[in-house]
Amino acid sequence: MRKYLKNKRVLRACEIYKMLDTSAKRKHTSFHTPGHKVGAWDITELSYSDNLSCPRGCIAQAEKDIARILGAEKSFILTDGSTSGVFAVLRSAKCAGVKTVLALPPLHKSVYNACETLGLSLLISDEADGRLLDSADALLCTSPDYYGRIPDLKKYRSLCDERGKLLLLDGAHGGHLHFDKTLYAGAYADFWVDGVHKSLPALTQGGVVSARTEAGGKLLEQSVDIFRTTSPSYPIMASVEYAVKYPRNEALERAVRAFAKSEARVEVHGDWTKLCARFGKSAFRAEKDLERKGIYPEFCDGEYIVFYLSPATKGREFARLKKALRRLFEIYPYEEKRVQQNPAPRVCTAGKKIEWVALEASAGRVCACKCGLFPPCTPLIFEGDRIEERQIRLLQSANNIFGLSEGKIAVVKEDEEA
Ligand SMILES: Cc1ncc(COP(=O)(O)O)c(C=O)c1O
Repeated sequence: MRKYLKNKRVLRACEIYKMLDTSAKRKHTSFHTPGHKVGAWDITELSYSDNLSCPRGCIAQAEKDIARILGAEKSFILTDGSTSGVFAVLRSAKCAGVKTVLALPPLHKSVYNACETLGLSLLISDEADGRLLDSADALLCTSPDYYGRIPDLKKYRSLCDERGKLLLLDGAHGGHLHFDKTLYAGAYADFWVDGVHKSLPALTQGGVVSARTEAGGKLLEQSVDIFRTTSPSYPIMASVEYAVKYPRNEALERAVRAFAKSEARVEVHGDWTKLCARFGKSAFRAEKDLERKGIYPEFCDGEYIVFYLSPATKGREFARLKKALRRLFEIYPYEEKRVQQNPAPRVCTAGKKIEWVALEASAGRVCACKCGLFPPCTPLIFEGDRIEERQIRLLQSANNIFGLSEGKIAVVKEDEEA
């Protein structure tokens, strides 16, 4: 644990960590789960360790502190990633009467999956205006997105207020935004997720889901309980509290913004933790070069290589990245990619027979699944899209993808396409 949670001053303010640290020093013979029997740090609900599903001790105090910091009435620690938080947010919205959600892309696959599972209609639009919002009961945005872009939350809050609609935010990438009182979800949303493991020093899968009002908090409490594990990881819980209490790193924020200003091919949008370096056609080659130097970005989309930082990123690590990027910009002058043509209209796939074909043989076929790069886990091809050569090339070049099975992609049988 100490390898990951290092800031002693923060640890002194962390209730769950203090409980675990004290118990790790005690004599402890384990006849309880987990089966590794170590009896320290990675424990289960014991007489002294509280219980995430109905907290009354250190977890209750940690969640209170987290809610205060994130601007929520109620916050719940997640140990199953933001995915479970997205499900809980959408179920709470449904319980509050929402039937149709207007959502602004990019959307993580959990949003599509939750809407489908919960029977919510999803209306997707690049922009939200009053007319569109009138045909939905809630507005959902990803804030920030994978590239650090933050939607106009002030405008969307007013639109929702004028019409009595709920504003839902997927802040899987925005756990650190509470440092900026104009950007953080707590200033705008009714229900939201903060995926603290992505941009704050929490262990993977650590997150928080929050509600703005007491009534919302009650709905959320029931919803969270449905989607989360009954065996939450104590190290993850402790790391979530630690991450939310972790201090701001203004020196690094300034350094990142200054670098973006000084390099024409570096973009940093509203959120400083996502640094986007433009490479065009040579993006995957440049990514491989970086990896050979031991520098691993979050993802490459075939145009940009995107680097994720956090307040825990060290100054010397950022200096290394800057040096490596400057060198790569010299080696790979920017080569523009061919302009995308208009995609063919989407075909209805409901009730049609499907088959699995090799990805390389799927050009022109109608896709029967969602698939894309992993991360960012936002679909590149949707059900009903005609698969394009450039999409196949992108999927073939990426390090990781989702939606395919053993190199094959689900498509509608040719005689069923019409
Ligand atoms: C926008 C967005 N929402 C939700 C999620 C799901 O988060 P997790 O992987 O923590 O379950 C992700 C993960 O990449 C995401 O990017």
